[in-house]
Amino acid sequence: MSIKIKSPGTVANLVCGFDILGLALDKPYDIMEFELIDTPGVVIENRDDFNLPTDPENNVAGVVLLAALEKAGINKGIKVVIEKHIKPGSGLGSSAASAAGAAVGANKLLGNIFSRDELVQLAMIGEKLATGVKHADNITPCILGGITLIRSIHPLDIVPLASPDLYVTVVHPQIEVRTSDARQILRKQVYLKDAIKQWGNIAGLVAGFMSNDKDLIGRSMEDVIIEPVRSILIPAFDEVKQKCKEAGALGGGISGSGPSIFMLSDAEATAQKVGEIMKSVYDGLGIENYVYVTTIN
Ligand code: HSE
Repeated sequence: MSIKIKSPGTVANLVCGFDILGLALDKPYDIMEFELIDTPGVVIENRDDFNLPTDPENNVAGVVLLAALEKAGINKGIKVVIEKHIKPGSGLGSSAASAAGAAVGANKLLGNIFSRDELVQLAMIGEKLATGVKHADNITPCILGGITLIRSIHPLDIVPLASPDLYVTVVHPQIEVRTSDARQILRKQVYLKDAIKQWGNIAGLVAGFMSNDKDLIGRSMEDVIIEPVRSILIPAFDEVKQKCKEAGALGGGISGSGPSIFMLSDAEATAQKVGEIMKSVYDGLGIENYVYVTTIN
């Protein structure tokens, strides 16, 4: 018996909610197919051009599958075929899709033995391998769908939020920003005045999602702590953001640790227009880019 799943890309942080907010996208997504095998251990077949490791101990999906088998305590193995469409280093939750997909696939194969929180804990093992830190803001929406809040990691406290009808436009300029590098450049201390602004925005954004208040969502997507530091890694970031807002996007910013930029819009026509603007800025700079106009999954 084999199990085939789609593991979606995700947008983490949602501008002001560093490491705590994220949403699942309708596209892009990876496809993963799992099979229980008699030989204990994990066999990985990668169907992509990304040169990802096939050694399970060094593969994001591999470490999650090994942990799932150990937790289940069964003397079997798992073979996984991974068709990866979410480019590593894109800021669209590529490692989370592998990690979360592995946890969900193993769980289905083993008879749904893990709870929601156990799936997230298992998937975090993969995220730790990829980024050096156990963060769950990509993994959780990848597993649950919609928009999620990680109120706390220790102990794990997941809060699914309401998902208003919104369009998401994402541009992925083809430069690679490693999450581990984009985390290292962050300041370790923040000013109280910045923290006050940030938690006002986070509270406003969550309230906006829960009450479907699009204006509140738009004006709360402001980040005074992380974005000013990370945006220097992304060519034309300020220009893209300003032009997209002028075109009617509610707001947006860096997707995860970048280099992708996302914008939320409340109409499809606006989301399409925003995509054209993003494309024309990067085409103008001679930077290869991909644009997705999609919805929250
Ligand atoms: N919250 C993480 C970060 C997401 O911004 O570093 C990485 O995709």
